[in-house]
Amino acid sequence: MRGSSEAFRFLDKEISLCYFLSILERKKARMEKKTFGVGLFGLGTVGGGVAELLLNENWKSKDYEFVLKKVAVRHLNKRRSISLPSRLLTTNPREVLEDPEIDTVIEVMGGISPAKEIIIEALRKGKNVITANKALLARSGSLIFKEATENNCYLGVRASNIASYRLIESLAYSPSKIEELIGIFNGTCNYILTEMERRGESFSNVLKKAQEIGYTEKDPSDDIDGYDTAHKLVVLLGLTSGHFLPLESLFVEGIRKITLQDILFAKELGYRIKLVAIARRKGEELEARVHPALLPIGRGLARLDGIENGIEIRDETGVEVGLQAPGAGRYPTATAILEDLVCMAEGRKLVSPYQREHLTLKKMEEVETRYYLRFNALDQAGVLAKISGILGSYNISIKAVLQKGERESERSEFVPVIMLTHKAREKDVQNAIRKINSLSVIKGETLLIRVEEGIF
Ligand code: HSE
Repeated sequence: MRGSSEAFRFLDKEISLCYFLSILERKKARMEKKTFGVGLFGLGTVGGGVAELLLNENWKSKDYEFVLKKVAVRHLNKRRSISLPSRLLTTNPREVLEDPEIDTVIEVMGGISPAKEIIIEALRKGKNVITANKALLARSGSLIFKEATENNCYLGVRASNIASYRLIESLAYSPSKIEELIGIFNGTCNYILTEMERRGESFSNVLKKAQEIGYTEKDPSDDIDGYDTAHKLVVLLGLTSGHFLPLESLFVEGIRKITLQDILFAKELGYRIKLVAIARRKGEELEARVHPALLPIGRGLARLDGIENGIEIRDETGVEVGLQAPGAGRYPTATAILEDLVCMAEGRKLVSPYQREHLTLKKMEEVETRYYLRFNALDQAGVLAKISGILGSYNISIKAVLQKGERESERSEFVPVIMLTHKAREKDVQNAIRKINSLSVIKGETLLIRVEEGIF
């Protein structure tokens, strides 16, 4: 008995020692908890979302916390979706850049200047930077990554693409080279094309709605003319190959010319129209382009509706992967930024594109693909023969023909004639169309949309 009560006493002591040690542990952990002082540039749709999430307890962990110290805005009294204590707001960027308690800068103001100067100065001052600014990264990615590396700062760019941290992470860490990628990178365009089809509405009506919801860039032409997609393609290729292509070298075409009629014709032929970014490499030759494309209905990217973005990738070993995620909007983008903050706090570094591969960009006129052509042709004998004769003379073979429209009178009228071609060379197709457009039986410009298979 005596022995056992001593044992209990010993156990008691052990329990109290454990308890004491656990208090010490917790105290130590509290003392070691790292606090990151965050400065935010921009309080628009995305910035408001970031501020809201930062003020939300969920993002704190036992090891670190983020404290929003200052928010730089253009106008103090603008009506916003989030109201912050006025002590947090400033119109003076220096109050953020020169605050020693701010070690991390989040830039979501967009545009090139002063965003570029702010990011460079922040990095030179040793502050970590997280940005969603794909337009800037596409233009000055090499410089920004160089500054981040030289100043040993974290540079987070996850929110610049598909509002998805996973994409950038897996591409940046992948040891094998990408052989082919095709992606829908612009939520606004995908939303517009989806809504045109769903509601039978015109391009301009649906664009207005996208602007009201806040999906579009400051200047919506960046979205609808394909530049936002091109920026994202340049950033992805930059991260994976170390080669930030000059924007001007890329073939970029937007969705302004796509009519509801084309969406319906494409559907009838078994396709949906999407704005896509495409990159393919063969050895050192790289094909990179952005344009609307007909994609086979019911497969891969063609299934994506609304602001959904997606990417399909095939690497050099033949492995195919895909990712789908929202491409625009307050929370998807803000969440990708917060994920970058967490990675930074956990000490993970995003691989920077230091390895510069030698790549030559293939000329667009040498690209080979299939085509959807919409002619506005006179509905009379011999017209199809004229068109197909010219196409044939340029070695362009026709796969399918569709003619729509009823003649209302005995007089010949112009009607849409659609042709799908087999694979042809871009230069030949452009030359053939120029010749066809000059025929008197053709009215206006012929619309050309490329046809792609996708990877999945
Ligand atoms: N305007 C962009 C889009 C927002 O529509 O995808 C995200 O980059």
